[in-house]
Amino acid sequence: MTDTTSLWTPAALEAATGGLLHGDARAITGASIDTRTLQPGDLFFAIRGEARDGHAFVRGALENGAGAAVVSQDRAKEFADAGPVLAVAAGSEDPVLDAMRALGIASRARSSAGIVAVTGSVGKTGTKEALRHVLSAQGETHASVASYNNHWGVPLTLTRMPSSARYGVFEIGMNHAAEIVPLAAQVRPQVALVVTVEPVHIEHFRSLSAIADAKGEIFSGIEPGGVAIFNRDNANFERLLAHARASQAGRVISFGEHAEADVRANRIVTRPDLSVVDASVMGVPVTYQLGTAGRHTAMNSLGVLAVVHALGADLARAAISLAGLKPPVGRGERTALTIGDGAAFLVDESYNANPASIRAALATLSGIETSGRGRRIAVLGDMLELGPSAEQRHRELADAVRASGIDLVFTAGSMMRHLFEALPVANRGIAAATSADLVDAVLDSLRPGDAVMVKGSNSIRMGRIVEAVKARYAVGTDPREAPLKVAP
Ligand SMILES: Nc1ncnc2c1ncn2[C@@H]1O[C@H](COP(=O)(O)OP(=O)(O)OP(=O)(O)O)[C@@H](O)[C@H]1O
Ligand SMILES: [Mg+2]
Repeated sequence: MTDTTSLWTPAALEAATGGLLHGDARAITGASIDTRTLQPGDLFFAIRGEARDGHAFVRGALENGAGAAVVSQDRAKEFADAGPVLAVAAGSEDPVLDAMRALGIASRARSSAGIVAVTGSVGKTGTKEALRHVLSAQGETHASVASYNNHWGVPLTLTRMPSSARYGVFEIGMNHAAEIVPLAAQVRPQVALVVTVEPVHIEHFRSLSAIADAKGEIFSGIEPGGVAIFNRDNANFERLLAHARASQAGRVISFGEHAEADVRANRIVTRPDLSVVDASVMGVPVTYQLGTAGRHTAMNSLGVLAVVHALGADLARAAISLAGLKPPVGRGERTALTIGDGAAFLVDESYNANPASIRAALATLSGIETSGRGRRIAVLGDMLELGPSAEQRHRELADAVRASGIDLVFTAGSMMRHLFEALPVANRGIAAATSADLVDAVLDSLRPGDAVMVKGSNSIRMGRIVEAVKARYAVGTDPREAPLKVAP
């Protein structure tokens, strides 16, 4: 094969995995573990899923044009007539996952890209996408899809990285201690960023410092002389610093509002649809506009500029690029609404929820000025994975509701009901059992001048409320079309 667009040659596949290719080789142009999203030319890895074994989908994958399927040696015979397969040694719990990891490690080894790993309790995907946006303008950039940040997402993303990439950005996540260590060892970042440490996924942790320790694991994978980047304002700064110092990192860069932060925000002006940040990056003044709203995204953007600096990329161009950044789906997208003869404003935060991100979203909502008889409305669904403190964590949000001047709160789920009950009666909308039960009440309550924000854990499906509001009232996605005043 003399195909220059090929991601992996047959020889490279066999060398990296120790497997044997059977059948007529086809060009490999991508990689997949899921036939529902498989593209022609993808190398299909038949890994063991939680519910089904990927070997059940090998025939379908090859029929749909997979470049080849990676299967366990002891199953290879079944697919002799189905198309090209790479048979890898059987024996372990998931030989195909092992092969994917081996190929990912080979991908990293052949790469001359600047490699960045991003972790944190919240903001990993938003920050990863911001890095993709900024770095793509400066060179070929490969980045994780969605939140592909776990034991299969990270090696899959590695196997997909073209050898020509100039930058590689990898999201790394965890639910338990010790999960990040092997992932960081595969990615071997030159630059590792911990966006922030918050009480998220706390059901498996005793304390916030235990979460910080787990995030700090990312530094263990740093290449010798690499750069460790983390938030100077965070309560666990010292703890992360200790992890960075214990690693092979040659340098630490901190970001935040703290006077000693290396990448520091001197002033953040937040508007309903954007922010303006007056920053200092390693002593160099940089003022930039950011296409996403909220202090939290402004904070994350400081981390982005710290990464840009650490990679030796062009800081000024990066700062200009940030103006064109858009929030990822379900993480702050704004839609202008027409209600009756007036206008209102919808903020879609339905992707997920935890105490940190709900507080951030409420604070952002507080910065949106309403008009006429309009109100700030929060529509909140349960937060999951909070362990025994779940009830308390929901109830405590009443403080943030008050501090953010939210006028009306609708809740979905038995946990958010605890917040509902902790609110003054005047702030209570409706408490429903499910998001489906809440749709009509929210639709009926909206009126001209309102600003409404919808948020909840993914499986609570708050997105259906967003869809229903848009279906009835949406006029566009550009909030500047909404005649709402801008908060000072
Ligand atoms: N620094 C921050 N502080 C608080 N909330 C934040 C911060 N950054 C992002 N968020 C909010 O956290 C939520 C999740 O964002 P994002 O999807 O980027 O996080 P993630 O870490 O990738 O999550 P996951 O663990 O689901 O992959 C969004 O609502 C986002 O607006
Ligand atoms: Mg994510």
